[in-house]
Amino acid sequence: MIELKDASKAYPNGVHALNHIDLRIDPGEFVYVIGPTGSGKSTLIKLLNGEEVADSGTVTVNGINVGALKHRKVPKYRRNIGCIFQDYRLLPRLTVYENIAFALEVTGTPSKQIRQRVREVLELVDLKDKERAYPDELSGGQQQRVT
Ligand SMILES: Nc1ncnc2c1ncn2[C@@H]1O[C@H](COP(=O)(O)OP(=O)(O)OP(=O)(O)O)[C@@H](O)[C@H]1O
Ligand SMILES: [Mg+2]
Repeated sequence: MIELKDASKAYPNGVHALNHIDLRIDPGEFVYVIGPTGSGKSTLIKLLNGEEVADSGTVTVNGINVGALKHRKVPKYRRNIGCIFQDYRLLPRLTVYENIAFALEVTGTPSKQIRQRVREVLELVDLKDKERAYPDELSGGQQQRVT
């Protein structure tokens, strides 16, 4: 379950990205957050993955108080979160194939299963012919699909 209680976040430049947000998402719910550019969607995601911390209020994910997580515990916490970043964040020195495999490697997936899953998703996003390419050899849309 994901729950925000009266969560607010302002950036150091004074922009109030989120103001007193109350939100509850139950297990199995599929939720879209839509809104104009600059309305705080990415900030909301950053509160969920611990990239930013709310100034006030609480953010709870599967019983974990994300804002109170110790720095060293954040990487392990993030292993349970799949996140497609708006700015791609691909690893520049890894190929398309290696970038996709990476997330599975760090979460301890057996290598046979990794090969199978990577092939499946490459087919799904129609990028089979790009598996050996590096991120800087791809278009923006192609990078987004790899992500
Ligand atoms: N690191 C930052 N420092 C200062 N202000 C920021 C920072 N990140 C975002 N903002 C500001 O906070 C507000 C919310 O930004 P956010 O990125 O959450 O919007 P968004 O809804 O994801 O927009 P978009 O649809 O364009 O991706 C905006 O006014 C933005 O300019
Ligand atoms: Mg955004």
